Amino acid sequence: MKTVELKKSDPEIYSAVVEEIKRERENIVLIASENYASRAVLEAQGSVFTNKYAEGYPGRRYYGGCEYADIVESLAIKRAKELFGVEHINVQPHSGTQANMAVYFSVLKPKDKILGLSLSHGGHLSHGFQINFSGMIYKTYFYGVDKKTGLIDYDEVRKLAKKHKPKMLLAGASAYSRIIDFKILSEIAKEVNAYFLADIAHIAGLIATGNHPSPVPHADFVTTTTHKTLRGPRGGMIMCRAEYAKVVDKMVFPGLQGGPLMHVIAAKAVAFKEAMTEEFKHYQLQIIKNAKELSDTLTNKGFKIISGGTDTHLMLVDLTDRNITGKDAEVALDLAGITVNKNSIPHDTLPATITSGIRIGTPIVTSRKMKEPEMVVIADLISKVLHNHQDASVIAHVKEKVRALCRKYPVYEEVEA
Ligand SMILES: Cc1ncc(COP(=O)(O)O)c(C=O)c1O
Repeated sequence: MKTVELKKSDPEIYSAVVEEIKRERENIVLIASENYASRAVLEAQGSVFTNKYAEGYPGRRYYGGCEYADIVESLAIKRAKELFGVEHINVQPHSGTQANMAVYFSVLKPKDKILGLSLSHGGHLSHGFQINFSGMIYKTYFYGVDKKTGLIDYDEVRKLAKKHKPKMLLAGASAYSRIIDFKILSEIAKEVNAYFLADIAHIAGLIATGNHPSPVPHADFVTTTTHKTLRGPRGGMIMCRAEYAKVVDKMVFPGLQGGPLMHVIAAKAVAFKEAMTEEFKHYQLQIIKNAKELSDTLTNKGFKIISGGTDTHLMLVDLTDRNITGKDAEVALDLAGITVNKNSIPHDTLPATITSGIRIGTPIVTSRKMKEPEMVVIADLISKVLHNHQDASVIAHVKEKVRALCRKYPVYEEVEA
């Protein structure tokens, strides 16, 4: 997108935008929760819909001039419904956390009990972590993954559910690489008379294309972000059974938010349209193939992957016996032009600011059209850096290779830098 005014009117912000485009082009970005949205998504998000107040819902707004906002939001809802096969959708949550908040506030009262996957075992802050609103308002309990297998221990979930009798059972993760059995979890929720919320923020793209079983037939509520595997703009969304439509809509607006971000909703609609294509199906499948190849190659090089591999878009590398912390690995890889994030591993003995692991995801490199052979190269580059993280010449050499690979798979060429 050509910037016309920004360069003149705000050179500092212009320069940061230019540098960010350059960063995204020149680095191998393996952050599992990020993606590179299409130009069409960027254009919709950069549109004049940013100007429009549209409190309310299509056809029942609190402002005049909403006729085009109505078109945009109605299309977003229609497309998302088709994509996920769900009875009701609210596309207004500003983020994944706000989507979760709206669901909690719809049916829970302060001090009610919730049971979710522990943050240190791959869960998310908004699933009851103490320093998040969810942990402050609700009484929270956590299940984890089995120490040996790295897999969710469904028997433990059942035991904890029976013991604590939560009002809501939560599924979903930020750093879990295996298929989540939403059916078993929904059965457990039923056994203890709890609501069942599936947060599919990370795997929404995989689910939309049939590459991961859908929680929709089993869950009372499904929340997601739209910017991870789904490859849309930064934002959230709630899906639910028709019986909860009213309480959820009322809680999103006027309960928790004011005017919806219509420019973001326009971009969500564009992303949903893209997600319905055959190309997107192939893309999601390739994300998984790439993750498997990367994981297998790292394993062959002696790295330990939590749970022994991946069924999804991400993996968690256990660095415990590699003489490097997650934090140092993140820094060294960054110097070489490879972007990952440090991540606690299950039963980590180091604090979350240091960690014994890194999380690696393939949505972005797959958006750049890289395939299995490139994953082998990337695994080799990661391995080189982690084995020589204090050797500046190795890091410089890897960085050259990273730049060369990125030049072969250009991105955002048409976006001005
Ligand atoms: C499982 C899960 N839920 C919710 C969120 C929150 O999304 P947001 O950052 O948009 O609030 C995330 C973000 O990483 C996530 O991984």
